[in-house]
Amino acid sequence: MKKPSTNKYPAVNTITDKERIRVVREIFSTITGKYDFLNHFLSLRRDVAWRRFTAKKMRFFKTNKYLDVACGTGDLSIAAVIEHPQISVAGFDFVSEMVQAGISKIEKKNMKEKVMLMQGDALRIPFDDNTFDVTGIAFGIRNIPDRDQALKEMLRVTVPGGQIMILEMTFIQNRFFKLLYYVYLNYLLPLFAKIFSANPAAYHYLADSIINFPSPEQFARIMENTGMITIEKHPLTFGVTWLHIGIKHEQN
Ligand SMILES: C[S@@+](CC[C@H](N)C(=O)[O-])C[C@H]1O[C@@H](n2cnc3c(N)ncnc32)[C@H](O)[C@@H]1O
Repeated sequence: MKKPSTNKYPAVNTITDKERIRVVREIFSTITGKYDFLNHFLSLRRDVAWRRFTAKKMRFFKTNKYLDVACGTGDLSIAAVIEHPQISVAGFDFVSEMVQAGISKIEKKNMKEKVMLMQGDALRIPFDDNTFDVTGIAFGIRNIPDRDQALKEMLRVTVPGGQIMILEMTFIQNRFFKLLYYVYLNYLLPLFAKIFSANPAAYHYLADSIINFPSPEQFARIMENTGMITIEKHPLTFGVTWLHIGIKHEQN
């Protein structure tokens, strides 16, 4: 695991896309060892329920293949196979440390025959057009500055009539919860991260990136603008996280 180069990252809305990609790569290569533990701890294990909800919404009807974009340590791939044992899964992430941790986990779970993880970039998805019944990304789109390009790539590799699923944390809209959530993101989360993580600055970045992410309505419009149709929006845990599902038009 790499060492962080800084104890503070610049605010996400003050840096270029190139610099942000460098920050994201550094963050995920320095927090890999504690990533799963902190995900479960900081979300009170809601992240497990959110991925399970997403997997239950998946519909396989043609190729029986699922693509996990920015797969990290592979938790959405694993949830998909548990829910749909007939499928095969490909997942990729641009940070090799995350992919390696995912591969070890999949071996331990005896899922090697079902799930193949590799390195790859969401801006140039390493698969042919119309390959997957379902293409998903969990907690990844927030970390990709050129999200239009990533969504267009997800659409390209999905079969016509297939689903594109985006699970992501957003800044809660309700006025009462907004204040609580702000305190949690800016004070409690960095405090826990300081105790448990090798790179506490990464969790300041996490808070910043959530606060600066588009609202669910704005994000649904972004999906529509890339050519997806019938966008469904599902709020999870009071809207801390949302699942958006778009469909690839039959004529695409
Ligand atoms: C918060 S983690 C989510 C991991 C996993 N999907 C999960 O549910 O836990 C975000 C992941 O996005 C990856 N990532 C960010 N930009 C990427 C890109 N352009 N291509 C591939 N992976 C990317 C990071 O390396 C990181 O592993």
